[in-house]
Amino acid sequence: MLYRKYTAWTAVLLLTGALSACPGLFAPPCDMDLVSKLDVEKAMEHIHHLSVDIGPRVVSSPEEREAAGYIAAVLADYGYDVEVQEFERPMVLAYLDVLQPEGLEIHLAAGSIRGTRAADYPLLTPDEGISGRIVDCGDGAPGACPEDVEGQIALVSRSDIDSEEVISNVADAGAAAVLIHGRDWRRYRVSVSSADIPFATLNAEAAEELRSPDLVVANLQVNLYTTSQNVIATRPLAGNPNAPVVIFTAHYDTVEKAPGASDNASGTAGLMELARVLARVPVGVELRFAAVGGEEGGLVGSRYYVSQLPEEEIERIVANFNMDMIGTAGEEQTTLYVNTLDGDNIVAQSARRALERLDLPEEMMRAPYQRGASDHVAFHGVGIPAANFIWRHPETAALEPWYHHPHDRIEHISEDRLRTAMEIVLTASLEVICEDAPLRPEAAGAGAN
Ligand code: BES
Ligand code: ZN
Repeated sequence: MLYRKYTAWTAVLLLTGALSACPGLFAPPCDMDLVSKLDVEKAMEHIHHLSVDIGPRVVSSPEEREAAGYIAAVLADYGYDVEVQEFERPMVLAYLDVLQPEGLEIHLAAGSIRGTRAADYPLLTPDEGISGRIVDCGDGAPGACPEDVEGQIALVSRSDIDSEEVISNVADAGAAAVLIHGRDWRRYRVSVSSADIPFATLNAEAAEELRSPDLVVANLQVNLYTTSQNVIATRPLAGNPNAPVVIFTAHYDTVEKAPGASDNASGTAGLMELARVLARVPVGVELRFAAVGGEEGGLVGSRYYVSQLPEEEIERIVANFNMDMIGTAGEEQTTLYVNTLDGDNIVAQSARRALERLDLPEEMMRAPYQRGASDHVAFHGVGIPAANFIWRHPETAALEPWYHHPHDRIEHISEDRLRTAMEIVLTASLEVICEDAPLRPEAAGAGAN
């Protein structure tokens, strides 16, 4: 009896040992079956966490950093080597925390001062912010503030009076800070001397919300943040440090005030879901998944990423699949564009083959289409074949109406479009990454095989 138990244990141990020694043994094959492993519910959970739980993720903000931490944890959990790569990007951001009444949520943009770099911005609040009552100062003309504005936060509507004059008028009246609003979400740029008070801008709707209750008490913070980050997950090709590399990218930051469900929690969720599905398949390349920060600030994260790659590493990268806005429910955004800057390339070719293999209608895709405006530009810039996948209007290439808007929320995500786009990008990538992939470039001089 004892002997029997012993042998059973030994068998288990031996089997476990054999499995860990040959990870490919029970790995799923690198073929079309993988498409059925994509789980749109998981992708939706990522979009929910990024756009609802975290919300707007502006470059260098604490929210962008929180999103990076989440993405890094997910990718590490899938078994990848994960690096959080930091880069400098000074950014001034404003937050208004409404203390009373409860439940009022107001998004702001920091104002900006002409010709002043964020790093030198003089009108920051103390670390703990400025707390006070919101006091209506009309159009901010001299004498427009009530007397009790002393030490409080003035609220001013934009008029013909210059913003710098308004700031100095309400400062003279004793206000500790000022919120200026127009009709839209514009971030006002003014020239003020460093003696003036912190200011932030908001739109008319938000200002209306601040005006309607009898008493609003809030804390205003105008802070300087300095650093953003990329999250890079890598799965090296065992035994081949010089293998060709395929890199998937998506930016996870947003513009101010936009929760960025479509732009670009959708692409980030697609990136994580592809990473999950590909984590254990036997492939013929090194896989990298880069969630990049600061795209909305001018492709800052992806440009930083390529700038720090040694030349030999750039040469190893054979393709960049960039996902940006892959889940919109926009009624007119029915065509998946494959945007490149070098005409037809390996990514666009693989995308066309994917459409055929998935038996999808021809009019569903436009590949290639000449267009920049996302992180594929940075990869193309160093000579890497790159393309961006994005849903747009079939003829005009228009984006959805809530693009870069506070309404870019999860309610406007289509599970169908998200699933289709993930299927296309995954299938396309298989044409390059599988061991027997038809489009897999010989690892020319890179030492594969
Ligand atoms: N998600 C958009 C992608 C995009 C692609 C928008 C093509 C419009 C056309 C991206 O995040 C974005 O908004 N890009 C910026 C440019 C970027 C360099 C700051 C844009 O197009 O304004
Ligand atoms: Zn954008």
